[in-house]
Amino acid sequence: MKQTDALKEFRLGVCYYPEHWPEALWEDDFRRMRELGLSVVRVAEFAWSIFEPKEGVFSFELFDRALELAHKQGLKVIVGTPTATPPAWLTHKYPEVLNVTHNGVTLHHGSRRHYNYSSQKYRELSAIITRQMAEHYKNHPAVIGWQIDNEFNCEISEFYAPADHDAFRIWLQEKYGTLEKLNEAWGAVFWNQTYSDWEQVFLPRPTPVHKQPNPHQALDEKRFISDNTISFAKVQADILREVAPDHWVTTNGLFGHLDSHRMNDELLDFFSYDSYPQFSTIFYDKNEENPLADRGSSQTLGTIRSISPNFTIMEQQSGPGGWVNKMDMPSPKPGQMRLWTYQSIAHGANMVLYFRWRTATVGNEIYWHGINDYHNRPNRRVREAGQIGAELAHAGSRIAGTRYKAEIALLSDYDNDWDGEYDVWHGPFAWQSDKAWFKALTRRHIPSDKLYVRSGTTLEDLKRYKVLVYPHPAIMRDETAALLEQYTREGGIVIFGCRTGYKDERGHCYMRPFPGAAAGLCGISVEEFTLIKGTRAATSMKWSGGEEALTGADSFNDILFVESDSVEVVAHYASDYYAGKPAVTKNVFGEGEAWYFGAVFNEASAGQIIERLGLVSPAAGWLTLPKEVELAIREDEAGPLHFLLNYSEQSAELTLREAKTDLLTGKTLSGTVTLEGYGVVVLS
Ligand code: GAL
Repeated sequence: MKQTDALKEFRLGVCYYPEHWPEALWEDDFRRMRELGLSVVRVAEFAWSIFEPKEGVFSFELFDRALELAHKQGLKVIVGTPTATPPAWLTHKYPEVLNVTHNGVTLHHGSRRHYNYSSQKYRELSAIITRQMAEHYKNHPAVIGWQIDNEFNCEISEFYAPADHDAFRIWLQEKYGTLEKLNEAWGAVFWNQTYSDWEQVFLPRPTPVHKQPNPHQALDEKRFISDNTISFAKVQADILREVAPDHWVTTNGLFGHLDSHRMNDELLDFFSYDSYPQFSTIFYDKNEENPLADRGSSQTLGTIRSISPNFTIMEQQSGPGGWVNKMDMPSPKPGQMRLWTYQSIAHGANMVLYFRWRTATVGNEIYWHGINDYHNRPNRRVREAGQIGAELAHAGSRIAGTRYKAEIALLSDYDNDWDGEYDVWHGPFAWQSDKAWFKALTRRHIPSDKLYVRSGTTLEDLKRYKVLVYPHPAIMRDETAALLEQYTREGGIVIFGCRTGYKDERGHCYMRPFPGAAAGLCGISVEEFTLIKGTRAATSMKWSGGEEALTGADSFNDILFVESDSVEVVAHYASDYYAGKPAVTKNVFGEGEAWYFGAVFNEASAGQIIERLGLVSPAAGWLTLPKEVELAIREDEAGPLHFLLNYSEQSAELTLREAKTDLLTGKTLSGTVTLEGYGVVVLS
């Protein structure tokens, strides 16, 4: 049974590792947490050897003493099951639990996440430790919930241990029943891959052309990994539900080859995410124009919200980051930690825990900083946490009942995400177009949602939005097209990009004109297509009925052919041998419109479409904001809360044509208002 009230109360907290510190520090640590306004700690997710120092010998003394002190200070506790880090005695005695890379290299003890999900022994030992911990803490007055494992599929999301090959074979037998069906689905007739015995079937293995597996097999591999991860997590979720039914259950994502939506629906009360906004700063493409940097996390938070409308940030960045030998993140500047905290909250977080209370003095993460430095003396980040704690002590309860509000959604689905890892004809485009749309919208202060198209997606889910953008759904099932047709017929606007609808769910190319299942909805066919990116000069497009350029026929061009009288050619190609041919079309379909954009979107082209559609910020009537400031809206029956987040170090000028109250300070704001660098206000 889902605990629907699990996130009813707003909480701020921190990740704490009592096992890393002299016991003499614990009480002072917990007392100071309370002083900062923190009310919850997460513990234990890597402490298996402490709970079970030898196989079958259990010890709870250390954590009992720590939890007692936390409880004495009025803190609530989230307990992590420790299965992300198997003990040395375990991997030594049962080496079959270890993960193996694609090239056959066994991954050993010394880091974390070096186990596989298929080993029955690992499942058995994980079940034992989970049950022991659940029995021990089920009635503890401070414990409120559980985090299963830690970051499923982080670090590595591929598994090639012997047990994985065996489990894959069983998964395929359940899915296909017969080898004939498997051979058909995998197109095994091509290059003589036909299987005549199940013993011959494996997960993709090294081939002469590195990592160029059979694409249909590779797609099934991802589906298998996802199902296998969920079934591993289910062992623990079931035990926690059975033994500690009053506690809620979550896990922290979001990582590859895992249908987190399904895992959340089937196993969890809500989803959790670990937000390190500076990942977006250090990993963005250095040639990218106008990178979003730390604001890019807002895009990911939209995906988290699509899994779970309200969620927890189990780890919120609170200092500079760096692992031994791996990536470096600068220190958040004054105000940035507060900005990122409200970024998470603005997008739906009802509980935020900083990572971590104090920087570790030993181990792999001695450069990954927490609120407190090694020296443990008060510092700037501790003071900033205290400011946030004080603000949320009164604002938190108003925020907790609200949900993010958007009228436009960007669509994705797991099949295309996974197929696109190998299909370079659409995979890289999805990320490019998604980002382009997100940027164009957020810089116009138009909040957007992410929506994953799944087998259970309903018309009602879609009708919450005026506009749906589904950039490159190469795999398009007839059922999905029918749902989108219904949405459009009833007044919705749907926008597709190039490469839509040319594959079925096995990844076979359809023998029908593109955009396949979406052809009727769009009223066009694709006459011809070509890759542009890296192969030839960029082409250009012009809006019809004038010479105005439509910026960006990027990366790929579908040359369109009008099939239906209800289609208007809104833009045409203006260069190359297909100059004059339709490039962008709009089909009036029922009460709505279906757009087909024959290329990959960039920020400018998405912006031009937004303007053609007349989409504006929901606050346009009373609020003017510079583009550096993000607008996010959470609302409930009591009305909207407008979060304004300034990602720039420079102050920003806002114009309020109506007086509003800042929930965080209680001040009334109107007219021209200066928002300081990295400043945040929440207007109600
Ligand atoms: C997260 C992880 C934490 C810690 C943190 C900083 O991915 O859950 O345990 O490793 O990153 O590296």
